Amino acid sequence: MAFPVTRMRRLRSSESMRSLVRETHLEPSQFILPLFVCEGEGVRKEISSMPGVAQMSIDKTVVECAVAQALGIGGVILFGIPSHKDEFASGGYAEDGIIQRAVRAIKSEVKKLVVITDVCNCEYTSHGHCGKTVDGEVDNDASVEWLAAAAVSHARAGVDLVAPSDMMDGRVAGIRKALDAAKYPNIPIMSYAAKFASGFYGPFREAAESTPQFGDRRSYQMDSSNGREAMREIELDLEEGADMIIVKPALAYLDLIRMARDRFDVPIAAYQVSGEFSMIMAAAANGWIDKERIMMEALVAIRRAGAGMTLTYFAKDAARLL
Ligand code: PBG
Repeated sequence: MAFPVTRMRRLRSSESMRSLVRETHLEPSQFILPLFVCEGEGVRKEISSMPGVAQMSIDKTVVECAVAQALGIGGVILFGIPSHKDEFASGGYAEDGIIQRAVRAIKSEVKKLVVITDVCNCEYTSHGHCGKTVDGEVDNDASVEWLAAAAVSHARAGVDLVAPSDMMDGRVAGIRKALDAAKYPNIPIMSYAAKFASGFYGPFREAAESTPQFGDRRSYQMDSSNGREAMREIELDLEEGADMIIVKPALAYLDLIRMARDRFDVPIAAYQVSGEFSMIMAAAANGWIDKERIMMEALVAIRRAGAGMTLTYFAKDAARLL
């Protein structure tokens, strides 16, 4: 029955009424806060392109994790900034690497938070690519071996969940096999299954000091035009043993979050990446938009598209508002 019997505005008449019929809700327990861990003690090094986000030494990271837990945030994902990088990404799988030490420290102090490690080589290679390079090309299978070694070393340190973000083929199977062989059959894998070669990662590369020294990542990360290919990537990662998947970036790829939600019955995360965060912060700093409003609107959109979990630099701000 149409107007005048039907009046859509009736259910928008007050905040109580709107809240009664609200379809999408955000929960701090489904936010994952990315953290950048660096060497040293008492270090907090602000990232100029990401206001409020900083590289922190392990001691400060532990405190940050305690704050996140107190706010009800579900998890943290750790990125390591080693003091030394080499051709072999050896800092990525070193038993006493920055991430391995950080995980041990966090797990001994902060008990409830799900501690996730980003498994990638790009923060540890001198050239900034996500794997071993041979004649300027990234060698897929050799890179998978490094990733598997890194995941096992994270497991030994006590990580709850590993998240490979490199986009090598077969890395989920490689990591699963290595974890099982090392007697960690219960550590789940959250794969960045549909990860696009994106300009939205710009500020992250300052934060993680991982800008490729030559070329770009288009030979392993996905072309932003391809939605069907993203579904294939997800399907393959699930066949290889991924327990959950990530679509990344988030806001420019909402259609693919929805497509994945409709096709795959596994937990789906979306990564609201650095550029998405920085654009909101920059516009808000100029007084052009209202930061809190836009932050919540973007987070609700990602949720409404079908993401259960959201990796977001706004996790603390949003949790405080909820
Ligand atoms: C590592 C990695 C990147 C991001 C997460 N893991 C950078 C990249 O692939 O270049 C980006 C996250 C962000 O922009 O917030 N491979």
